[in-house]
Amino acid sequence: MKSIRKIGVFTSGGDAPGMNAAIRAVVRTAVYEGLQVTGIYRGYQGMIEADFVEMNRRSVSSIIQKGGTILKSARCPEFRTKEGRQQAYDNILRQGIDALVAIGGDGTFTGADLFSTEFDVPVMCIPGTIDNDLYGSDYTLGYDTANNTVIEAIDKIRDTASSHSRVFFVEVMGRDSGCIALNAGVGGGAESILLPEIDSGIEGLIEELSLARERQKSSMIVIVAEGDKNGGAYNVAKAVKEKFEYFDVKVSILGHLQRGGAPSSFDRVLATRMGYKAVKELLKGNNRSTVGLRGTEIITTPLEEALSNKEFKLDEELLEIANIMNK
Ligand code: F6P
Repeated sequence: MKSIRKIGVFTSGGDAPGMNAAIRAVVRTAVYEGLQVTGIYRGYQGMIEADFVEMNRRSVSSIIQKGGTILKSARCPEFRTKEGRQQAYDNILRQGIDALVAIGGDGTFTGADLFSTEFDVPVMCIPGTIDNDLYGSDYTLGYDTANNTVIEAIDKIRDTASSHSRVFFVEVMGRDSGCIALNAGVGGGAESILLPEIDSGIEGLIEELSLARERQKSSMIVIVAEGDKNGGAYNVAKAVKEKFEYFDVKVSILGHLQRGGAPSSFDRVLATRMGYKAVKELLKGNNRSTVGLRGTEIITTPLEEALSNKEFKLDEELLEIANIMNK
């Protein structure tokens, strides 16, 4: 086993609240263990361009409460090429980096696994994405904060929806994952929830809204996940309006505001525990794995296993609960 003296840490892919808290935990745990730390700006892009910064305890002061990522983030097509990865390896070698901590989502994990296998660089991953769609952790960093953001928005929309007896279609993030839609839909008391994982068609929604009307509901909120198969909130609203001309229909797309903001208490503590664990595991010789939360425990899962379980399952019981609560 090669001894580790310097760790490189980076964030990659879509940013998520809690990434800064994770960077802070990685840096402070590493320094505590007598290691040096290099921050790599803009993920794999920064690795290819040697965009590095030396970090110490003070570099991560007062960032635990900040959204976004101080190390910036990027998506990097060049890293998919062998030449790009070779350039990245040459740069980290020159910088004296012996091991990596990668914070991000599925694409970040895939890149880390490939790079680590090709060049024999130890790597630990930390799941950071608001989508909560990674195998190996019950919660990804940013998911809890994003849910709170969405619920706050739904509450506000409900005030105006009930004042005007309107039907609102609220689009939330989740290109492939309905986790935010389902969770925030239940937490926000939505009348209906449309998810990318379930191709229920418009007919099911129309029936639900008719029933809600029969039950004297004057205002309604429908949560539409960005990746819903009906083509997003505007298309769904249009189809519903064609069916129920008398509905006063409005659309609200929450968009990227769901990715920002101060991380919740849950995300800060989770990020801190994950950052600590990632460094400790590297020092124990663990490699090519992701840290994650299972129940109340921080565990690790080999990247190979995490990446081969792409079919992330929605919580079936929560789906059933949503269908009972909205009646
Ligand atoms: O962070 C995950 C996610 O928010 C998806 O739900 C969404 O489709 C995507 O990122 C959009 O990211 P970007 O605008 O950065 O490409």
